[in-house]
Amino acid sequence: MSNWENRPAWLRALPRPVPAELETPAAVAAWEAGAYFENRQISVSFRREEAMGEAYAIAQTPSGYEIGGGEAGLMYGAYALIFALETGTPVPRGVQKPYYALRMLDCWDNMSGEIERGYAGRSLWFEGGKFSYEPARIRQLGRMLGSVGVNVLCLNNVNVHQPAQHLIDSLLPEAASFASLLRPFGVRLMISIDFSQPIGDVGTADPLDERVQAWWAETAKKVWAAVPDLAGFLVKADSEHRPGPNTYHRTHAEGANMLARAIRPYGGKLVWRAFVYNCMQDWRDTKTDRPRAAYDLYKPLDGAFDENVILQVKHGPFDFQVREPLSPLLLGLERTPMAIEFQLAQEYTGQQIDLYAMPPMWREIFDQMGPERVSAVAAVSNLGRDGCWTGHPFAALNLFAYGLYAWNPQADPETVIRAWAKLTYALPENQTAALTGMLLNSRSVYEKYTANLGLCWMITPNSHYGPNPYGYEFQAWGTYIRADRNAVGIDRTESGTGYVNQYPAELKALYASPDTCPDGLLLFFHRLPYGWVMKDGRTLIQRLYDDHFEGCARAEAMKKTLESLDLPEPDRQEARERMEAQVRNAREWRDILNTFFRRFSGADDAQGRKIYD
Ligand code: GCU
Repeated sequence: MSNWENRPAWLRALPRPVPAELETPAAVAAWEAGAYFENRQISVSFRREEAMGEAYAIAQTPSGYEIGGGEAGLMYGAYALIFALETGTPVPRGVQKPYYALRMLDCWDNMSGEIERGYAGRSLWFEGGKFSYEPARIRQLGRMLGSVGVNVLCLNNVNVHQPAQHLIDSLLPEAASFASLLRPFGVRLMISIDFSQPIGDVGTADPLDERVQAWWAETAKKVWAAVPDLAGFLVKADSEHRPGPNTYHRTHAEGANMLARAIRPYGGKLVWRAFVYNCMQDWRDTKTDRPRAAYDLYKPLDGAFDENVILQVKHGPFDFQVREPLSPLLLGLERTPMAIEFQLAQEYTGQQIDLYAMPPMWREIFDQMGPERVSAVAAVSNLGRDGCWTGHPFAALNLFAYGLYAWNPQADPETVIRAWAKLTYALPENQTAALTGMLLNSRSVYEKYTANLGLCWMITPNSHYGPNPYGYEFQAWGTYIRADRNAVGIDRTESGTGYVNQYPAELKALYASPDTCPDGLLLFFHRLPYGWVMKDGRTLIQRLYDDHFEGCARAEAMKKTLESLDLPEPDRQEARERMEAQVRNAREWRDILNTFFRRFSGADDAQGRKIYD
């Protein structure tokens, strides 16, 4: 067994399990505050104001605090107060409310118990084709999510494999019991559905066929009767071999709206993923460009979706690479509500072995996009049955931080990381600072040794861990770097694939010229010779070498930092083992990429460091 009871993640200050009898967020708030403040000579009272909903306000009283808020707001206020006192940061003043109403965690759990792209063990709630879970553990999960404001959990993988289709029919009673474990923490369920499901009963899934419409209306009625507060359905359609409206020559708006109308009477949201592209590309074809695909498909449909449809767009135009530009869809749609999708599961970002703290990336993304461009946020979960919940104990930071960014997209990365560190570990101040600093820089370290200058996809096919610079070069996924002896990168300017034209004028101008394009995206947008002189005066090939050496050296330095921390067991042991693996990985990346580029370019390292033949 995984022994999760002694692994409180960031809830170290709340060691007592929440009793099973608590049924509402207000009851959770009262209980958590009661337990935390019991011996602290501080009195906390609650003032319920239904109209405040998820918002709260904390006022100081002569003997402690009064938390005002709606049902969920009281709970959020209680956690915010406890977290502020624990981290020694100011108690929030004035009314606090979440920036986004829908703060979704998408779990890619299969009913077999496997998690697609899961790096923390098996599913917390499915096994052997059935629901299988420890209720106390699911309550603790609800508590973790509620404490950081995540309010929707999508139960099953977007790739809906049998028997998950039955989550909307014969498995509904079990889904309803599961929902009741999360409800006290303000977390509602969502279910991923299979667009083709009516075929079994009516012989087609054509969204314009009335029998299909009636089938979904009837199904929705049963689903919401069983789980009245279900948040909605999540759909991956016409993507990576999933069924969808294209089979019937219908548009994605026709497909999504048909489902949206079926669930609208119950207040359900239809979350439609925009991750649609040609996954059967031919590498010989240099004109088709995968990053263009979503914009080309959805821009003409802007305004055609019903109001309870949310288009869920991955933050970059590819697929959660180490660095990508912002998806042009996020900047281009004007009349379609969108959710931005992040991936806490570190599929391409170290697989919960290598450190990769996401707050700096999210802050960059929200600043560039403007948080008001989207109306909801979603993130692919990094959770699993491992004792520490997230494979690497430090990977819990990304889940914690995701909640905080969904609440406040302008949160400061360092403050958020530090808060997580303080809540998770009782370290002396200098060690908290060292841990915070290491995590704050971890993305840049990982980027330097794996994907500098915007060169993504140099990974081992399928597993997506470890270096393989030509691994995806001749594949059908549209994932090329096109390195040869003269140059490397993809020309996505007007003279190339034209992708850059999908951006608003200012960004287009920035990206269109290699002289202004940010270094981190240079080879994403441009194909350049190895002798290209970078803004800092170094040649392109030298920058490739330098970054690989630097990234690896910094990973080795992180290992020293980690060794200086007095972490509790088993976190200490787990973190050290994973750090050993990260350093090995970083060396592989450094040496393989350097050799790969030297074999093509013939250029020696200006500093004469070891590059293998
Ligand atoms: C990535 C990932 C797949 C996943 C897909 C998605 O491509 O590798 O496993 O199904 O994203 O987001 O749907």
